[in-house]
Amino acid sequence: MNLPDLKKAKERTNKEVKTYKNPMYASDKFNGKKYFLRTYGCQMNEHDGEQIEAILEHFGMTPSVEMEDADVIVLNTCAIRENAHDKVFGYLGRIKHLKKERPDVIVAIGGCMSQEEGVVQELIKKHPYINIVFGTHNIHELGQLLIEANSKKQDIEVYSMEGDIYEDIPYKRASNITAWVNIIYGCDKFCTYCIVPYTRGKERSRKLADVVKEVATLKEQGYQEVTLLGQNVNAYGHDLKDGYEFADLLEEVAKTNIPRVRFVTSHPWNFTDKMIEIIAKYPNIMPYIHLPLQSGSDRILKLMGRKYTKDEYINLFKKMKERIPNVAITTDIIVGFPGETKEDFKNTLEVVDTCKFDGAYTFIFSPREGTPASKMKDETPLEEKEERLYILNEKINNYAKESNEKLLSKTVPVLLLGVSEKDSTKLYGYTDTMKLVNVKGSPNDIGKIIPVYITEAKSFSLDGEEVKESIKN
Ligand code: 5AD
Ligand code: SF4
Repeated sequence: MNLPDLKKAKERTNKEVKTYKNPMYASDKFNGKKYFLRTYGCQMNEHDGEQIEAILEHFGMTPSVEMEDADVIVLNTCAIRENAHDKVFGYLGRIKHLKKERPDVIVAIGGCMSQEEGVVQELIKKHPYINIVFGTHNIHELGQLLIEANSKKQDIEVYSMEGDIYEDIPYKRASNITAWVNIIYGCDKFCTYCIVPYTRGKERSRKLADVVKEVATLKEQGYQEVTLLGQNVNAYGHDLKDGYEFADLLEEVAKTNIPRVRFVTSHPWNFTDKMIEIIAKYPNIMPYIHLPLQSGSDRILKLMGRKYTKDEYINLFKKMKERIPNVAITTDIIVGFPGETKEDFKNTLEVVDTCKFDGAYTFIFSPREGTPASKMKDETPLEEKEERLYILNEKINNYAKESNEKLLSKTVPVLLLGVSEKDSTKLYGYTDTMKLVNVKGSPNDIGKIIPVYITEAKSFSLDGEEVKESIKN
C-alpha cells in the first residue's frame, strides 16, 4: 500500500525520461472481457483516459456501453471542485450494488481524487469493494496492477510525488481528426484555492524534440489539429536545461505544418511578448487564447496568489487583441472566494465589461481540503454567491452572443468533427477561434477544414452552411 501525502507535493524529485513498455502478461486473464471507463474533469484527465483505454485494450478488452456489463470498471476522477467528487460518489453507489450481484468485477479508481490524502483513506474504508487505487503519477503501472488484481483484495498504489516522464505512451485517441499532446505536467503556481499542484505534482516539461516528434507523427497519420496541453503551458521549459521556452516549442510545432495548433491553459502571469509574436506569425497557430482571470479585484487576486493585478491582466489582454488579428479570448472566473465583498465582485464585472470575453467558465469557490483558501474566513452566504454567479453569467452570455453575432453573414473556416448529436441532419465543427458551429454540409467533408457561411448566432454556438466550391469562385 502506498498512500498519498499532500505535504510532499511541494518537494521536487529527480526525474528521468523513460520509455513506456506495456506489461508482459502470462495469461489471457482479460482477453475478450469488457471494460467501462468513466472520465471526469479537464482535458488533461481526458487525455489520461485515452492512455488508460490503450492499456485496457492491450489486454484484449473492449469497451462496454453499460457499466453493468463490464468486467473491469475504471473511474478516472477529478478533484477540482466538490461537485466533481459528488459525481464519483454517485457512481460508487451503483458499483456497490453491482458488486453484490457480480463480485468478480474489478473496480479501479484513478485520477486526481486518488491523489488526495484523506480522500483515499475514506474511499477504501467506505467502499471496501474497490480493488485498485492508482494515481496520476503512475498510470503506467495500471497494467501490472490489473494483472495482479483479484476481486477479493485491495491494492492501493498512489505516489505522493511525481516521478519520471514516460515517452512512447500508447493512447487510444478519442478522435482521428484532433489530438491532445501533453507538453508540461503538473503546476508550480499553488494558487491558494487550487488542488491541482497537489494532485498533479510539480511542473515537468517534456523535451521539445519529443513533443515535435509526436506532432509530426500525428500529422502523418492525417490529424488536422493538435492541442498542446498543460495546466500552465507558458511555464513550458523552465525546468529543462536546454533553454527552450513555450514560444520556441510553439514555433517548432507550427513548423510541422499540421493544419491547426491550439494550446491550453495559459497563465496571465508569464505570457511573454515572444509568445504573442509567434501566435501572430504562424497562420496554423489558431487565434484563440484561454486566459483565466479568476477575479477582477486586486485584493482577491492577491489572496488567490495569482501574481498579477487587474491592470496587468487588462494590458496583456489588449496587447493580444492588438497584435493577433481576430483573436478570441475566453476566461475562467471564480465568484465567492473567501472574503469577496460586493465591491470586489463589482470589480470583476468591470473587467468583464472591459474585456468583453468571447466566453467564460464561471465557478462558485469550492474549498479544497489542504489548500490555503480552504482555511480562510468565508462569511458570504451561498445564496449571495449564487446570485453573483447568475449576474456574472448573464453578462458573460451577452458578450459571448455579441462576439458570435460579429460572425453573422461572414464565411469562416470550420474544421468539421462529426455529425451533431442534437440534430443528425447537421454536422458540427469549430472555427479557428474555437467557436462551435452546427453546419448544413456533406458528411464526406468530416475531417476537413471547410468554408462555412454563418446564418445564426447564439450564446454558445453558431449555425451555418457549407459554402460549395461553385459559390466560392
Ligand atoms: N473552486 C472553484 N473553482 C476552482 N477552480 C480551480 N479551483 C477551484 C476551486 N477550488 C477553477 C479555476 C480554474 C478552473 C480550471 O477551475 O477557475 O481556472
Ligand atoms: Fe491551479 Fe493556479 Fe496551477 Fe491553474 S495555475 S492549475 S489555477 S494552481
